Amino acid sequence: GDAGHTEDFAFSYEGPFGTYDQNQLQRGLKIYTELCSACHGLKFVPLRTLADEGGPALPEDQMKAYAAAFPINDELSNPQLFDRDLEEYRTLLPTDNFPALETAGAPDLSLMAKARAGFHGPLGTGINQFVKGIGGAEYIASVLTGYTGEEKEEAGTIFYENTAFPGGWIAMAPPLYGEDVEFNDGHSNDLHSEAEDVAAFLRWTAEPHQDARKRTGFVGVFFLIILTVLLYLSNKRIWAKIK
Ligand code: HEM
Repeated sequence: GDAGHTEDFAFSYEGPFGTYDQNQLQRGLKIYTELCSACHGLKFVPLRTLADEGGPALPEDQMKAYAAAFPINDELSNPQLFDRDLEEYRTLLPTDNFPALETAGAPDLSLMAKARAGFHGPLGTGINQFVKGIGGAEYIASVLTGYTGEEKEEAGTIFYENTAFPGGWIAMAPPLYGEDVEFNDGHSNDLHSEAEDVAAFLRWTAEPHQDARKRTGFVGVFFLIILTVLLYLSNKRIWAKIK
């Protein structure tokens, strides 16, 4: 299809040494909570992981309070949260996932940063992805900043023109305009930076163990280098008499 235009945002987690920016993930969580969660679920994300070191790293008590305060807006999609004794939907616990939200017709966002690609080609070769990465988070941020302001109605649905969405018309009204949330530390809340923050948060939900995986990889490579040196020296020693 006619792929949209993806802006190449610079995220902290890019490159072999890149890690998530915990403050950015916390800002993204706030944006998701205050705006996106009205329509989109995050049903594969356990609430307790909001306290993870390689994630938003909320203090334990804040994570618990967040879980307990999170509303269940879509009761039909979350039968597992119904308490038969109380005969009502129970309060969420850290061991629960974010509730599913299927009735709004908006896709679950847990894995969206992995389900979409921001970069394609050239000419079907995939070289752009090799250089810039798959670009799922860049795609999400580009959708959020890509509204032109044009709308049209088709078969009773309103579509909004968007330069990043394939096909150019998306059924999601612009969820962000800039200055939609306030951050305690006064961090910038213009549209571009809000889009970047929530996209980074959604990249974490889709790839929650990235930081630990990179660390383990480096330890592995480090020991392989030591092993290489030892093997080289042993090899020289073993063959010393014959050479
Ligand atoms: C689709 C993100 C808020 C309704 C999407 C998609 C993303 C997204 C990434 C998928 C685009 C694709 O399929 O490639 C967000 C974020 C939000 C947000 C980050 C908060 C900042 C909302 C809100 C609503 C909504 C508040 C409802 C009022 C929808 C709908 C779709 C959609 C209906 C399907 C659009 C289509 O396929 O044409 N959203 N969204 N979203 N979203 Fe949102």
